[in-house]
Amino acid sequence: MKYGHFDDANREYVITNPKTPYPWINYLGNEDFFSLTSNTGGGYTFYKDAKFRRLTRYRYNNVPVDDGGKYFYIKDGDTVWSPGWKPMKTDLDSYECRHGMSYTKFKSAKNGVQAQILQFIPLGFWGEIQKVSLKNTSSEVKKLKLFSFIEFALWNAEDDMTNFQRNFNTGEVEIQDSVIYHKTEFKERRNHYSFYSVNQPIQGFDTDRESFLGLYNGFDNPDVVNAGKPKNTEAHGWSPIASHYIEVELQPGESKEFIYMLGYVEVDADNKWESKSVINKKPAKAMIAKFDTVEKVDAAYNDLKAYWDNLLGKINIQSGEEKLDRMVNIWNQYQCMVTFNMSRSASFFESGIGRGMGFRDSNQDLIGFVHQIPERARERIFDIASTQFEDGSCYHQYQPLTKKGNAAIGGDFNDDPLWLILSTSEYIKETGDFSLLDEMVPFDNDASRAKPHFDHLKASFYHVVNNLGPHKLPLIGRADWNDCLNLNCFSNDPNESFQTTGNKKGDTAESLMIAGLFVVYGKEYVKLCNRIGKNEEAAEAEVHVNNMIEAVKSHGWDGDWYLRAYDYYGKKIGSNENEEGKIFIESQGWCTMAEIGKEEGLVEKSLNSVKEHLDCEYGIVLNSPAFTKYYIEYGEISTYPAGYKENGGIFCHNNPWIMIGETMIGRGDAAYDYYTKIAPSFLEEISELHKVEPYVYCQMIAGKEAFKPGEAKNSWLSGTASWNFYAITQYILGVKPDYDGLSINPCIPSKWDGFKMTREFRGATYSIEVLNPDHISKGVKQLIVNGEIVNGTVIPILEKGKTHTVKVVMGK
Ligand code: GLC
Ligand code: GLC
Repeated sequence: MKYGHFDDANREYVITNPKTPYPWINYLGNEDFFSLTSNTGGGYTFYKDAKFRRLTRYRYNNVPVDDGGKYFYIKDGDTVWSPGWKPMKTDLDSYECRHGMSYTKFKSAKNGVQAQILQFIPLGFWGEIQKVSLKNTSSEVKKLKLFSFIEFALWNAEDDMTNFQRNFNTGEVEIQDSVIYHKTEFKERRNHYSFYSVNQPIQGFDTDRESFLGLYNGFDNPDVVNAGKPKNTEAHGWSPIASHYIEVELQPGESKEFIYMLGYVEVDADNKWESKSVINKKPAKAMIAKFDTVEKVDAAYNDLKAYWDNLLGKINIQSGEEKLDRMVNIWNQYQCMVTFNMSRSASFFESGIGRGMGFRDSNQDLIGFVHQIPERARERIFDIASTQFEDGSCYHQYQPLTKKGNAAIGGDFNDDPLWLILSTSEYIKETGDFSLLDEMVPFDNDASRAKPHFDHLKASFYHVVNNLGPHKLPLIGRADWNDCLNLNCFSNDPNESFQTTGNKKGDTAESLMIAGLFVVYGKEYVKLCNRIGKNEEAAEAEVHVNNMIEAVKSHGWDGDWYLRAYDYYGKKIGSNENEEGKIFIESQGWCTMAEIGKEEGLVEKSLNSVKEHLDCEYGIVLNSPAFTKYYIEYGEISTYPAGYKENGGIFCHNNPWIMIGETMIGRGDAAYDYYTKIAPSFLEEISELHKVEPYVYCQMIAGKEAFKPGEAKNSWLSGTASWNFYAITQYILGVKPDYDGLSINPCIPSKWDGFKMTREFRGATYSIEVLNPDHISKGVKQLIVNGEIVNGTVIPILEKGKTHTVKVVMGK
């Protein structure tokens, strides 16, 4: 069953039934200021950091789901309704929610009144705009009462949800003209406030939640709206809100437009006050003036559209497969921007409080984003690298506001450092900008300990070399990419966190996943060293890479697949000898991507085993059989019920590793088959089961051993976005930036006749046509660039500012 449809021409998903199986959301904002908004008007707003600068309140895991947001109430006689359906849930005559590229639109109607809302954050602006249009489509005069509603959070979202003995006393607001200012804690240590405005005179307002709703009422039954009369309350403590009241008279056929703005202002410490206890409103007024007419708002909306036209114009395909095109051309790239911005911090599954930017997560997110805005990628790489230590280890997470590592979670996740080599090398390949390697980048955020960025890569590489275990395989530390394989944790205490507890010394448990990862990015490191003339460094590093390959062959092969790890006692994990968890996806992915033992057939055997033991209708599960009891020596992985999350769930992030592995041995049919199993646009028809948005990837789909296979959770913020984009564009479609050119080596389904791709690369446009006359999966017979034959599969860097025609004929 579907709840809407794709509108590819407008790059929108159009939801036509508000009762989606879970709130289907969108993100507004691209740089500093962000909102999450659901298809029924739920969600919240923050500046830079969802924990430390939360502007509006949101209650996770609420009853009913997704209650609270930016709401409008329209009172038309005795009927009260909301354009987003919620909170009133009045039956609407029509309803439509369009989630587009950084904007959301609602269009609904009731009793001869049509309401439209356009929500977006203008580029470079610290405020969200809601353009509300009301139209009288009836033949009578309409006298409407329009109430807006938002609820302020008291800035620190965690404190806001816990510290009530203080917070019920601190709330403060100011009201002037049509603007409601939220200034809690402004008189002490905060140099910022927020405001909610509307661009025309109001006939009343409310700022005290209890007065507006009534203490015993929900958002769907507000006293003030029921009475049709504001109370003009001024909040003192308790829970400040902002609600404007406007009386709207519409002649038949007439429409009116209202521009609301939720803004954020920072002032310098000497300029905080206008007069005693009165905040300096100048900057807020300037912001409001910038968008006080429909023309100005529409112009900003058009700018936003142009911005996305440009970003999405950089890679564009025509494959003949509609569902694939809409993923690659629109939604997957869009999601890559969102994960770049949010890491794993704020979604409808991530509370914005728990995690900031992840070291491994953000490095991986870059590979799906770097072609869009390379300058921002560059800055992010330095932010991440600055949280590293001289020995290569690093903080696992950092806060976006302070850019400092989170001491509470610490480090010692031994895969972390290697991802920096991935992000850095992908950045250079995309841009050709080697200069970032010489840039001075701090260790541990301490400028006096800055070293050239290259040294960070070297530290990352040697962190693995210097932390090998008994089989000369990498020590796992607290965990590798799989946060739940906690081999040194040994926790018996339910109050301990698996992420931060280490009851054993970590000098025995080893990871085959890190081994494969090290071979892939170790080779990359060697290549980079050679490319910049550090040949000795390259030769020395290569020895370590070769040693690792040998270690995997001697101690990491189980007969039909690669082992997953050795536990604290030196026992095998992910072996046919094990009763449960016989085979795992991560080491199959990384060791096949690394092509370890390819000549001996190990890569092919491993991938055949994946097909046999891990594949199912909905994707590739993480491990099989799933664990059915708690193994103290394995940690959190064995705590999840079978088929969920890291215990036998389809953890979508790692499926593309197998797709890429398949392309290493030329199996394009298998690679693409795996792609279609988890790509959301291919799952639209089963939305009822799948539950989450059909336009973005989710972290996890319940696996074959789960209670409800195919049901997904945790949409939006997942490394799945960038990895799938990377796998489909660079390995399946096979168009891959390299240091000295653009490599084209597709590995596609044999039934395809070919495909077309337009790709910007180093300032030029490549108009690529791939032909597959013999219906094979891999192999380039001829490469013709601007009419001339090029040998091999790499097109050298071509003249900037021009369009170059590339014809690729596949064949043996
Ligand atoms: C979560 C984390 C990621 C981790 C993955 C597997 O998605 O964000 O860092 O690698 O789970 O445990
Ligand atoms: C849990 C989750 C994992 C996540 C980790 C860190 O272990 O299963 O996916 O990465 O928590 O928050």
